[in-house]
Amino acid sequence: MKFFLDTAEIDEIREMAATGLVDGVTTNPSLILKSGRDYFEVTKEICDLIDGPVSAEVAATDYDGMLREAAHIYDIADNIALKVPLTVDGLRACKHFNDQGKMVNVTLCFSSAQALLAAKAGATFISPFVGRHDDVGFDGMQLIEDIRLIYDNYQFATQILVASTRHPIHIVESARIGADVVTLPAKVLRQMFNHPLTANGLAAFVSDWEKTGQTIAK
Ligand code: G3P
Repeated sequence: MKFFLDTAEIDEIREMAATGLVDGVTTNPSLILKSGRDYFEVTKEICDLIDGPVSAEVAATDYDGMLREAAHIYDIADNIALKVPLTVDGLRACKHFNDQGKMVNVTLCFSSAQALLAAKAGATFISPFVGRHDDVGFDGMQLIEDIRLIYDNYQFATQILVASTRHPIHIVESARIGADVVTLPAKVLRQMFNHPLTANGLAAFVSDWEKTGQTIAK
């Protein structure tokens, strides 16, 4: 399963990319605002830092506007995946760029009916928002399970990119279901390393080793 970082913070991306476990990055207008950076500058910097797909979102909500913006966004780098909303115009733009062999990430997906439309429009990635789904009392992981079933029924090439993840269980459940990608905040990726028994066990090993008075490498 691929891990994308859900952030536009360069320091976080640099820190987590150093683990060798980051396969891409996703941004959105809220993350760009939070970074306080210029859209094109920060997206270019991210594309230089990460080899994998970097999702950059259109601001326009109409088809013609999306096409105009996309010309500038795809120009940023070869590893750009254009992010479009799951609307009629968004899926028209998705089909337009898929026909050109370009990467498209369809975002703001909240139903398997929507995900089916995005697969038929040839989306490279579909981004169902599990955390926001949970926030309104629906089971976000059930949505992922339904989409996985539908996509496997028809061998759709669209990759399921689980978004709006909030904790390590969202990641583990996505892996159990067989999602292709998860996008996660750096905080959640850091949490995944942690287990109290690992920390306790290592502390005991370090202290026992010190008692041996030996060294392995000078
Ligand atoms: O990037 C899309 C998505 O991951 C946003 O998540 O945390 O704002 O619900 P969140």
